[in-house]
Amino acid sequence: MCGIIGYIGSKPATPFLIEGLKRMEYRGYDSAGVAVCGGAEIITRRAAGKIARLEAAIAARPVVGTCGVGHTRWATHGPPTERNAHPHLSGDDSVAVVHNGIIENANALRALLREKGYEFRSDTDTEVLAHLVQELYEGSLEAAVLSALREVEGTYGLAVVSSRDPGKIVAARKGSPLLIGIGDGEHFIASDASAILAHTRQVVYLDEGDVAVITADGYRVLDVNALPLSRRVDQIDWDLGAIERGGYAHFMLKEIFEQPQTVENAMRGRVIADDGTSKLGGLNLSHDQLMAIDNIIITACGTSWHSALIGEMMIEELCRIPVEVEYASEFRYRNPIVTDRTLCIVISQSGETADTLAAMREAKRRGARTLGLVNVVGSTIAREDDGGIYLHAGPEIGVASTKAFTSQVVALALFTLKLARKRGLSVTRGIEIAHALAALPDQIRDVLSRADQMEQIAEEFKRAPNFLYLGRGVNFPVALEGALKLKEISYIHAEGYPAAEMKHGPIALIDEMMPVVFVAPHDAVFEKVVSNVQEVKARKGNIIAITSRDEPALAGLVDYEFRIPETVDLLTPVLASIPLQLLAYYIAVKRGANVDQPRNLAKSVTVE
Ligand code: G6P
Repeated sequence: MCGIIGYIGSKPATPFLIEGLKRMEYRGYDSAGVAVCGGAEIITRRAAGKIARLEAAIAARPVVGTCGVGHTRWATHGPPTERNAHPHLSGDDSVAVVHNGIIENANALRALLREKGYEFRSDTDTEVLAHLVQELYEGSLEAAVLSALREVEGTYGLAVVSSRDPGKIVAARKGSPLLIGIGDGEHFIASDASAILAHTRQVVYLDEGDVAVITADGYRVLDVNALPLSRRVDQIDWDLGAIERGGYAHFMLKEIFEQPQTVENAMRGRVIADDGTSKLGGLNLSHDQLMAIDNIIITACGTSWHSALIGEMMIEELCRIPVEVEYASEFRYRNPIVTDRTLCIVISQSGETADTLAAMREAKRRGARTLGLVNVVGSTIAREDDGGIYLHAGPEIGVASTKAFTSQVVALALFTLKLARKRGLSVTRGIEIAHALAALPDQIRDVLSRADQMEQIAEEFKRAPNFLYLGRGVNFPVALEGALKLKEISYIHAEGYPAAEMKHGPIALIDEMMPVVFVAPHDAVFEKVVSNVQEVKARKGNIIAITSRDEPALAGLVDYEFRIPETVDLLTPVLASIPLQLLAYYIAVKRGANVDQPRNLAKSVTVE
């Protein structure tokens, strides 16, 4: 969601802040700002819109100082205007705060502070923090921040500077990630490792409840009572190339084309082909624990929820264990049936989605074991789950998730294979699936080598106002994901539906204006899908089909066809989703949309 960066050292802070903000612009991009401690005062510059506008504001009126904080925002409280952009200053301009998260008792605190004479200059919840720190300041910024946080309910990742206690940044984390970057004579604070990777690989991930004091020469981590804590230093193991576009027009296109590699990375060292099973080092589940699982709940949001649906079908088919898939936001607020024999699988690219994290905590509280399928190493879900399978897809910058999705499906397949082989799946079937997994990277290469076909189809349909995506079985979630991709980045209304269920509603929408995408590989339900194709054709719908072989049954019915290689049924989503990613991408580009930063969306939704 929003991004935080802070720098303290001997060099001018502003270039570090701007660079960090640009690297995190994918997280939030409706307004941005910096606050720099220059001499005895704090100077801020803020701007609505993209970071480039902030840069222009700074170029016009430079800010000088060796300590500062910056923020790129995704609006929650108040519209994305300059006055609502962070940093927010206290009444006497001595304190500047950047904040991710939501202060839930902001109204009550605002009323109290107004009584004390504070005037509010924004609509944000964050501004109360700035005034509160000023109000409680008694000579030490960290003490004031700790006192302020005792008054606060809600979530935060925050960084604070003060002209009354210069030479330090105080940061705090509860529900919103932060890390310290360790440099030589300089230190950073950031919500996202990509913001500081150009300057250091050594990081300290803050834990929930941590408060950190960062100076040019060092850092200290404190608990709520100001007692020192020791935190491990981690090494970031990916490099700058992973967060740069590398010649591609957009991050999304780069990430789509990375999939042969990312799918391979998700499997590396994990497939035991001869025994038709997998080896998952972080699973943290003994043989007995795997055998004791009575039911599985998979919880996630957005694209990750779609991979969860595929996981449900894989696990039920091969392991014969009942699986329920839940939107994380729904799961956490109902009264789900969870026992100590429940395994709760939590899927999240970012590992920070607020609802998914809360759902995982709720499942734990109710006694379930939790297993996180997460991409971002060191993220909150990855740190709090009982066991995990990292996706190893590398940083995903495009807001619309692509490579994380295919890696999630592969990770689910690996887990299924392991569990299924323990629970009765034959070695022959296991080997068949293991070989199919191993073939995927080359098969994806084949799909991508024909991307231009999807581009041509996109050209035909770029002006369509609506789209319908239909699939059955394991490819129904692929239809949902195809529709989500299109609406996210092209703003075309699109719906995904189980192909047969279409007769109970969406069929009313079909006429010669309606493009209908069928996900129709030659799987066990192919014949059934053909009937649905006929139903659409009879109503003059425009049919785009994702098929896997020459199908006489479709002759004369399909207007546009894209072929994917054949694999075992349960893995077709990995191959079938890729042409749909390409279709969405090319349509969005042809419509002039900002593919990597679609309106209103955020890469990582850290508020509920
Ligand atoms: C946001 C993103 C989606 C993503 C969803 C879940 O809505 O825009 O692309 O699928 O969050 O994110 P997660 O990081 O938990 O997978």
